[in-house]
Amino acid sequence: YSAHFYYQVIKDNGFPMPDDEKMLYGHFRKDFLWSTATASYQIEGGWRSDGKGLSIWDKFAHTPVRVSDSDNGDIACDSYNKVEEDVAMLRQLKVTHYRFSISWSRVLPDGTTNNINEAGLNYYHRLVDALLAANIQPHITLYHWDLPQALQKIGGWENETIIVKFTEYADFIFSRLGHKVKFWITINEPYNIANVGHGYGVAAPGISFRPGTLPYIVGHNLLKAHAEAWHLYNEKYRANQKGIISITINSDWSEPRNPYKQEDIDAARRVIQFYIGWFAHPVFNGDYSDVMKTIIRERSLAAGLPKSRLPEFTPEEVKRIKGTYDYFGFNHYTTVLAFPVEYGDLQHYDADRGAGTIADRTYLDSGSGWLKISPFGFRRILNFIKEEYGNPPIIITENGISERGPVDLNDTPRSYYYEKYINQALKAYLLDDVDVRGYTAWSLMDNLEWATGFSERFGLFYVNRSDPKLPRVAKNSVNLYSTIISCNGFPD
Ligand code: NOJ
Repeated sequence: YSAHFYYQVIKDNGFPMPDDEKMLYGHFRKDFLWSTATASYQIEGGWRSDGKGLSIWDKFAHTPVRVSDSDNGDIACDSYNKVEEDVAMLRQLKVTHYRFSISWSRVLPDGTTNNINEAGLNYYHRLVDALLAANIQPHITLYHWDLPQALQKIGGWENETIIVKFTEYADFIFSRLGHKVKFWITINEPYNIANVGHGYGVAAPGISFRPGTLPYIVGHNLLKAHAEAWHLYNEKYRANQKGIISITINSDWSEPRNPYKQEDIDAARRVIQFYIGWFAHPVFNGDYSDVMKTIIRERSLAAGLPKSRLPEFTPEEVKRIKGTYDYFGFNHYTTVLAFPVEYGDLQHYDADRGAGTIADRTYLDSGSGWLKISPFGFRRILNFIKEEYGNPPIIITENGISERGPVDLNDTPRSYYYEKYINQALKAYLLDDVDVRGYTAWSLMDNLEWATGFSERFGLFYVNRSDPKLPRVAKNSVNLYSTIISCNGFPD
């Protein structure tokens, strides 16, 4: 059944919603940041335009059977040629910010400043200028998964020379765009880069043969690269450019499948420490959590390895990484229920957490198998961030829902999702004193949903792919979201 079907059943019969709390009416902070997001490979197209170098996603998507329906980002939404159209949608939404990413190989085709592609950089200048003219602040992600293929050839994120390469790229971008851009994200979702790209192998670079080892090495280098870019900005640019910079960490919320069973409660905690904790603990608290360190070390030694598969930070590195944030950039979509799993049962990287997860059968579906509508978990994980990581300012850098199948511009499930999730963020802010500073809807428009191609559509705007002009058409959630924005929340 589709989400829409369930929604109708629930509405018509007055069944309790899975999140059956009443709506809260009230407002966010006056200076709340309202945004929507995209990423370069998912929307830009122009994969070889004007001297762009290849990225690992160009390579991956051109490899047979990697992406559903053989979709690829060669053209995507053609945003490379549609600055005006894209900014018109943002104006219609009345967002204060727009989050997008830079394609590293578009500006530095071989990944290094030995070869600068001014034409590619010019696209970002045109976009940033159009945004500023519309009074919309750019919020730029430096790395949203499209590593230059030239750097993958020398090991990509597995090779620790990537840390210097990433810092050089960041330096270049700050020096060229930093006078206009005040909001930065170093790396988007390190968890998925490590696990999906280097554990399951269903995202670029598609490596899956060392699932219990490589993700940890990649994660280690991602954390160091992020920290170096943050320090660079802090020391070299902050005084003049006066911006803020952080990392964006993603996580589901995890509940015990049976809240009365201690083993399920413990499993839910492990899932959280291996998910949000993997990256948030080093950045906000210092070093990996004891849960991760202990479990991985014990399991490595028991398997006869000389040391833990989780690399260690030196005390200097712990210090260097801790505190490298100006806000908690947070991507969230769904809640899972956790239960313990015998270690031997699991073949994946996540064997170490010793837990399986499922969704509650009453949660409404979306167009993505992994994404069930479960708004209550959003408030809980925002509270978890507050408690666990010292009450940092939080900018929600992604939240949203997909649909698939024939387009329905009524867009009921998406409107329902945004209304309920944003209201949970408001509850966290007003009732629980969580320091929520901003909200970003994923996504501005339907785009290439990575390995599932164009079949899963996350957009506020529909992109009609049967018309070569790729026109953007507002779904009804555009009205809903822009109303929430103009009210800065939910008025009584
Ligand atoms: C996470 C990613 O950052 C984004 O690129 C992706 O499309 C959405 N979540 C939806 O899966």
